[in-house]
Amino acid sequence: MKAHTPLVIGNWKMNPATVGEARKLFLEVRKELGRKMRTTVVAVAAPAPFISEIERLNPSQRIALAGQDIFFETTGAFTGEVSLPMLKSVGATAIIVGHSERRARGETDADIYKDILSIIKANVTAVVCVGEKERDSQGNFYSVVEAQLRSALAAVPKSKLKQLVIAYEPVWAIGTGKTATPEDVYEMKLFIQKVIVGQYGRPSLKTVRIIYGGSVKKDNAEILMKIGRVDGFLVGGASLKPKEFIAIINSAEAYATNA
Ligand code: PGA
Repeated sequence: MKAHTPLVIGNWKMNPATVGEARKLFLEVRKELGRKMRTTVVAVAAPAPFISEIERLNPSQRIALAGQDIFFETTGAFTGEVSLPMLKSVGATAIIVGHSERRARGETDADIYKDILSIIKANVTAVVCVGEKERDSQGNFYSVVEAQLRSALAAVPKSKLKQLVIAYEPVWAIGTGKTATPEDVYEMKLFIQKVIVGQYGRPSLKTVRIIYGGSVKKDNAEILMKIGRVDGFLVGGASLKPKEFIAIINSAEAYATNA
C-alpha cells in the first residue's frame, strides 16, 4: 500500500513566554525550512494567543497552523476557554485533541469525543492523541489505547475520515527522553490500524495517518519512520529548536521520497 505523505507537527505547548519570542521562533523555522517543495506536511501548534501573529508571518501557508486544544462549544459564557471557530478564524487548519497533558488536567474521553465532533463538523483536521501511561508485560496497555481510540472514532463518520490523524503518544515517552522502540511503535501502529479497519473497512488505511510522539529527536526520527513505519511525528521539546525540528522533518521527507 502506498505510504502517506508524512505529517510533522511541532507542538510548542506553553512556550515560548512572549509573542516576540514566538515570532522569532517561527521565523527561524520558516527560514530553516527553506523554499523547496516538500512532500512532508509541516505544521506548528503555537499557543492560542500567538496564532494570529504567526498567521501574519506565514503568507505562503507553507507551514500549516494547528491549535493545541479547543473547548467544544462555539461561543458563550465559558470563561477562559478557546473555541474551534476562534482558532479557525486565525488560520488553524488542524487541532490537537486529547493530548495526555490535557487528559492529566481532567479531560475525559467524553470531553474529547465532543471536541472531535465539533472539529470534524467544521471541516478541520483532528489530531487525536492516544497512549498508555505505562507498559505492562501482559499487554494491558493495548486495551487502554483501544478504549481511547474507540471513543474517539465514535465521533468520526466514514465520510470524514480524511480529517482524522491518530497520534500514538505513550505518556511515559513524552518529555522524558525515553522513546518507544521502533518495533513497539510498529506493533502499536498495526494494532491501531486493526481497530480502524474493524470500524471502517480496509480502504480507511489509505486515509488515516498514524503518527508518533514522545521524545522524537533528529537521532531517532529516521528509524521511527523506517522500522516504526509511522506517517510522521508530533514533536514537543525538539520543535522549539528550529535546526533540530527541521532535521526531523528532513528525515521524514528523506524516508518518504525513498520509500
Ligand atoms: P516531547 O513531546 O517531544 O517533548 O516528548 C511530545 C508531545 O507531547 O506531543
